[in-house]
Amino acid sequence: MAVLALLLMALLVTGGLYAVANGANEAKAETPTYTAEDVTEGEKLFISNCASCHGMDASGTENAPSLIGVGAASVDFQVGTGRMPMQMQGPQAQQKPVQFNDEQTAQLAAYVASLGAGPTVPDSEYLDASAGDPAEGGELFRVNCAMCHNAAAAGGALTRGKFAPSLDGVSEKHIYEAMITGPQNMPVFNDANISPEDKQNIISFLKNIEANGSPGGAQLGSLGPVSEGLFVWTAGLGMIIAFTIWLTSRSS
Ligand code: HEC
Ligand code: HEC
Repeated sequence: MAVLALLLMALLVTGGLYAVANGANEAKAETPTYTAEDVTEGEKLFISNCASCHGMDASGTENAPSLIGVGAASVDFQVGTGRMPMQMQGPQAQQKPVQFNDEQTAQLAAYVASLGAGPTVPDSEYLDASAGDPAEGGELFRVNCAMCHNAAAAGGALTRGKFAPSLDGVSEKHIYEAMITGPQNMPVFNDANISPEDKQNIISFLKNIEANGSPGGAQLGSLGPVSEGLFVWTAGLGMIIAFTIWLTSRSS
């Protein structure tokens, strides 16, 4: 009798644990829910707008990389910021006016997500800038992002004609997606590198400097020694030259 009771209990416990673990997984995979129709519509859009470069089955050509496993977040970022469909081959996809509406973007994302697992579009939980800690985010930004994007997020040049853009005016969702997908030369910051809470802190920092501007007067583009040096060089040297001309003109 005791053995039977023990067996029953063990079964219940493992069953219960399994159900809980499964539930947790489901909750994670829940956002966003694409229907089979989204996928078919997305495939049609893909074939007419993207397949010429990315290939009929999105497995890539010599002109563009494979999209299998890049995930819905990458498509939402690339199409939602107007980078894709790319118009012109170049060192880096240029941002253009967005060509697809939210529904079409979601359909394209659904199609690419159906080809292989990848990062999903973030849910709104971590996108509320006012809920993050901007001071903490600023510290993370200076350690992880400032070497490319500049300490004031004003952007900067990289090698071979590439550049890290200014982050002024980028939406919360696209900031989050850039971190989890790593477009172009940007590294991927997965949840082990920077937790979702810290990503929210970074978003909060960026929105904070966007809203508050520079407390120190003229920013000169926030480019640091480059623009300040140029200012001193032209204005300072100009003044010295003007002063010398004035001095010599008086002596004669
Ligand atoms: C003219 C060619 C061209 C067209 C058309 C085009 N792409 Fe791209 N795509 C590229 C190139 C080249 C890259 C890689 C370079 C880059 O990201 O700057 C890229 C990168 C991407 C990426 C990022 C992949 C990654 O590794 O994260 C996604 C997502 C993407 N494209 C989706 C699309 C979608 C969706 C369309 C159609 C709406 C599209 N592209 C149309 C050339 C193209
Ligand atoms: C190695 C350099 C590098 C680092 C480090 C880097 N980025 Fe980027 N980032 C880039 C480049 C290059 C692009 C442009 C990609 C493109 O246009 O395809 C970019 C694009 C972005 C964009 C999209 C901007 C837009 O206008 O749509 C955001 C947002 C962004 N980065 C945020 C971050 C954050 C936050 C961090 C730190 C956690 C970071 N980046 C670290 C190089 C970098």
